This record gives sequence, C-alpha cells and structure tokens, in this order.
Amino acid sequence: MNAIAPPVQQELATLSGFGNEFATEALPGALPPGRNSPQRVPYGLYAEQFSGTAFTVPRHEARRTWLYRIRPSAGHRAFRPIEQGLLCGPLAPPNPNRLRWDPLPIPEGPTDFVAGLATIGANAPGEALSGVTIHLYRANQPMQRVFMDSDGELLLIPQQGRLLLATECGRLLVAPGQIAVIPCGMKFRVELPDGPVRGYVAENHGAPLRLPDLGPIGANGLANPRDFLSPVAWYEERDEPTELVQKYCGTLWATTLGHSPLDVVAWHGNNVPYLYDTAHFNTINTVSFDHPDPSIFTVLTSPTTAPGVANMDFVIFPPRWMVAEDTFRPPWFHRNVMNECMGLVQGVYDAKAEGFLPGGVSLHPRLSAHGPDAATTERAIAAELKPHKIGGTLAFMVETSQVIRPSAFAMACPQLQPGYDACWDGLPKTFTGPR
Ligand SMILES: [Fe+2]
Repeated sequence: MNAIAPPVQQELATLSGFGNEFATEALPGALPPGRNSPQRVPYGLYAEQFSGTAFTVPRHEARRTWLYRIRPSAGHRAFRPIEQGLLCGPLAPPNPNRLRWDPLPIPEGPTDFVAGLATIGANAPGEALSGVTIHLYRANQPMQRVFMDSDGELLLIPQQGRLLLATECGRLLVAPGQIAVIPCGMKFRVELPDGPVRGYVAENHGAPLRLPDLGPIGANGLANPRDFLSPVAWYEERDEPTELVQKYCGTLWATTLGHSPLDVVAWHGNNVPYLYDTAHFNTINTVSFDHPDPSIFTVLTSPTTAPGVANMDFVIFPPRWMVAEDTFRPPWFHRNVMNECMGLVQGVYDAKAEGFLPGGVSLHPRLSAHGPDAATTERAIAAELKPHKIGGTLAFMVETSQVIRPSAFAMACPQLQPGYDACWDGLPKTFTGPR
C-alpha cells in the first residue's frame, strides 16, 4: 500500500468546532436527505450507525455518527487472537513510589503503530474497561492493516514525527504540539509521512472527552471549540485483502476482510475523530501572586458521576509568561489525591532541571510528595522575579482519580530510572529557628 502523498495539512480539509453535528460527503449527493436510513441510499451505499454513548443518555451527552459506506461493517469472518507484544500485558502491584522513565527507543526492526504500542500503566487490568490506560507508541513503518480499539477512546500525543490518520471519517495529519482523539471503535490506519515516530496514547475507558466547564473564567479561554478540527469525508475503494485488528478487553484480535474498511463515502454526526493544536490554547494564569492549581491548564476532561472528579483530565503546560510577584514560581511542592502521569513533548519542564526527557514519562501516585527538584528549588528561591517567558516547551499531564498501576513491563524495562527519588535530595534545611 502506498502512503498518501504528499500528505500536507492544506490538502486535508477539515470541519471546525467541538461536539458539532457535522455533515460531509466525498461524492455529491451521497448523504441521504431527510432520513438517516432510507430504503435506498444514494450510490448504492449502506447506512450504519456508529454509537459513542448509550442511546438514552441526555441529549447534550449523546455521541453518534451515521456512516454511509460501500460495505457494512457486519460483513466479516471471526476475529482470532494475535500476538500483542508489549500492549496490555500484566500489571505490577500498586506502587506508592514516584516513578520515571527515559524515552523508549524506536525499534530497529519493522514496526507499525499497533506493533509498537507499549503499555506503561493502567487504572485496571485490560478486561475491566475502567479508568484510563497509558501507552507509548513507537513505529517506523506505515500500517498495512487497520486498527479499531473497542476498549476506549484514544488520545494521541505525538512527540516525534507526524502521523497521518486515515480514519472512517476521513484523514487527519497530526504533528508534535498537536493532539488527536479517535472515538472508541473507530477504524483507522496510521501512516508515517516523516518516517519514524514516537509519542503517547491515553486510552480513555470513561465518558468521552469533552471541553471543561469554564465557571468564573467566562465564555472564552483555555481550548476554544472552534479550534478543534474534524476531517471531511474521504474513502478508499480497495477490493484487496485487508487485516482488521481489534483491541478487545485488553487483547488483540484480527480478521481478514476482502476490502478496505475505510470506505465511508459520507457521514453526519458528532462521534468523530478530531485534532487540536495546543498552540491555540488560551493559557490563563495569575497576574498577581501564587498560581492556580494545574486544572487551569485543562484541555479536555472525561468526567465521572461525582461532580468535579475526573476519570481523566488532559492538562498541558505550554509556553507562557510568568509574572507572579513574591511567588515561588515553579509548580509548588504538593501531595495530590489524584494520580498524575506526565510526559514531555519538547523542551524542558519548569519543575525539573534534568532527567525528565522528551519522550519520557513519570508517574506520581496519589498523595505521593513531589514538586520541583532540588536544583530548580534553589534557583527559584534565589531568582529575581522579573516577567519571563517559558518558551519552547510542552509538557502534559494525564490526571486520573484512580490509582495508576505500572505495567510489569514498565517496572522491568531498563528505561526505569532507579535514582528518581534522588532529584529531591539536597534540599537543605533552611529553617532559621526562633529569633
Ligand atoms: Fe503533581
């Protein structure tokens, strides 16, 4: 299969807005007027509903898309289990320690996006479909097969190289600094226009990601709905054997179709993949003293039924101005009842002088004490507080209300840093005592 060339963003038309009921057709008149499932669909297509939420959720929660496709998805033979490498292996016991990993290398042998997935941790074993699962991806070959994840919605965070996502709803080109979200169960193929890639995947088993409420911030700010891009309809008509791989309850299965399943000629609905460029994030922070909790940097959230308690928050630490007066400016020392997984796309994170590398990852379990390392703390206390710009960096956090258990693979791999605790060594006793 040839890569789609030249894969430049300008050639990939998009629709903008978050949660919109879009309608798009790759052939004129392919969308049936006035009906979702007419007796005869234009062009001899089949109508198929693709649900992202239960039918009866409140209307503002509902996600579904009607797909008009060359062949219905139902036409397939039985799935068979296949090798799943480092994806969703056993979890290690819950671990209260602060953990950090160097970046995993990109494999030297031919590896596509699915084969290169390595699970770092999860709230629960794969079959539980609960909370969030954190993976790293590495690939050096475009997929010749098509993948669908029946276990969760996929938040992709590229760290190296662009991904061309050919999905049932159309194509998205996503670069480092951008993120993409693929609905649970949507079929897609990952191509590599720049060669080898590496990045992060947060697999959300909870309620679909959405924009956070803004409260007193008001009607604007943080991630604005208009900056979310969804693809226009695009299809391929390929009557040749195509492997369809499915992730199901933490295991991989495959079946061989006689055609490409990326054959949706038209669609309408809101259960769609989307792309967001973090450069559009309207970062809000203090203009007096202290700084707000990092929830002020929330891009997307998956709520639970408990008000304000997230199954998963996706938070970024983008370039921004620091202007606070009489304030310890790095992220302060803290003990958080939530569980934090952090990654770094580029640059340097302002709480760590060294050791947290682009492509690396850290886990800070609930109520584990953490914050700036000793070198950063010493500098911050001594700093002359002028306005300064934190530039050229993008860190992110996936915060979840459930404990993240590291995978057995992550606890055994050589990238686990044995000396992470030592970065807080050397914080001197500066107590002056009663005067
Ligand atoms: Fe933290």
